[in-house]
Amino acid sequence: MSEPLLSIRDLVTEFDTQDGLIRAVDHVSFDVGRGEVVGVVGESGSGKSVTAMSVMGLVPPNVGRVVQGQALFDGQDLLAASPEEMRRLRGDELAIIFQDPITSLNPVLTVGAQIGEAIRTHRDLSKDDARSEAVELLTAVGVDDAERRVDQYPHEFSGGMRQRVMIAIAIANRPKLLIADEPTTALDVTVQAQVLELLSRTQQEMQSSIVLITHDLGLVAEVADRVVVMYAGRVVETGSVHEIFQEPRHPYTRGLLASRPGLGGSDRLPAIPGQAPSLLAMPTGCKFHPRCDQSDGRAPCWEEEPSLRVIGADADDRASRCHYHEELARERTAETPRPRGRWWRR
Ligand SMILES: Nc1ncnc2c1ncn2[C@@H]1O[C@H](COP(=O)(O)OP(=O)(O)O)[C@@H](O)[C@H]1O
Ligand SMILES: [Mg+2]
Repeated sequence: MSEPLLSIRDLVTEFDTQDGLIRAVDHVSFDVGRGEVVGVVGESGSGKSVTAMSVMGLVPPNVGRVVQGQALFDGQDLLAASPEEMRRLRGDELAIIFQDPITSLNPVLTVGAQIGEAIRTHRDLSKDDARSEAVELLTAVGVDDAERRVDQYPHEFSGGMRQRVMIAIAIANRPKLLIADEPTTALDVTVQAQVLELLSRTQQEMQSSIVLITHDLGLVAEVADRVVVMYAGRVVETGSVHEIFQEPRHPYTRGLLASRPGLGGSDRLPAIPGQAPSLLAMPTGCKFHPRCDQSDGRAPCWEEEPSLRVIGADADDRASRCHYHEELARERTAETPRPRGRWWRR
């Protein structure tokens, strides 16, 4: 495999809170290949967004800090880059889309002005040329009648259309890496599918890489090539989408798969029992053991935290942080994944 576009190595990010210091991201490592879509999944509070913020240089400096690690982007360590350099890279080679487009868009500027600004910050274009490009971008992301809508304000757009505008801004300079943090969580199911389709198409056209952050494994099956599962600030399993769905090798991943909503997004199955631990009062040993249906009270689970170990000899980036992941391999789930999504068609 060629050198990854992004290589996150041993990332540790902490916050000062009223109740004490918390380690939101604890020695996280994973790679994002060129042209690859990596899904980062986990329950709320598992450290997905903080990982993204760390890589983008957006950890709020008064309360939080990256204390360790590297994020090698095309060989350059983003965590060691100056704030000026990060400002230059963001919106140009790197872009991020957040869950809630209304707080990311400026309510007093037209959509066209905001897309134009994104373009003109990084390229020397006249206002007129930037506006024409904004119209093209809006058309490309599926906003009808873009020539007229380019002069409208964010509040004149629906939630789904605003997220399309955010995507237009994010891809305006054809970034090599796009991080999408819960990009469709605020949208209804049909619009979710359209926005995902747009992201997927954009990625293919631009040959960019995408990190898709979501609490919903179903979304990952639709668009991702590879999956990184996070729990309590740690990576607990990695593998291809196919491997993760066919044969989860961590009890937490297995639980996430079992609690996936059905097609259509309704009829949610029971969630994994219990709650994710407080970062202020972490269990000993494996951080998942108090909720684990595989541990059965075995001592290693509460005595010693497992490391993230590579599974198999020829496995390409397949790893699990469970002492007993081999047991999971033997008792393969009878359920096979639904025949849908990109990975299935290949
Ligand atoms: N600005 C902040 N100040 C203090 N704690 C934070 C801040 N941002 C995130 N955290 C904490 O970091 C942990 C991980 O959060 P986050 O990465 O947002 O989770 P998620 O996986 O849901 O995206 C949580 O416990 C959260 O409370
Ligand atoms: Mg988040």
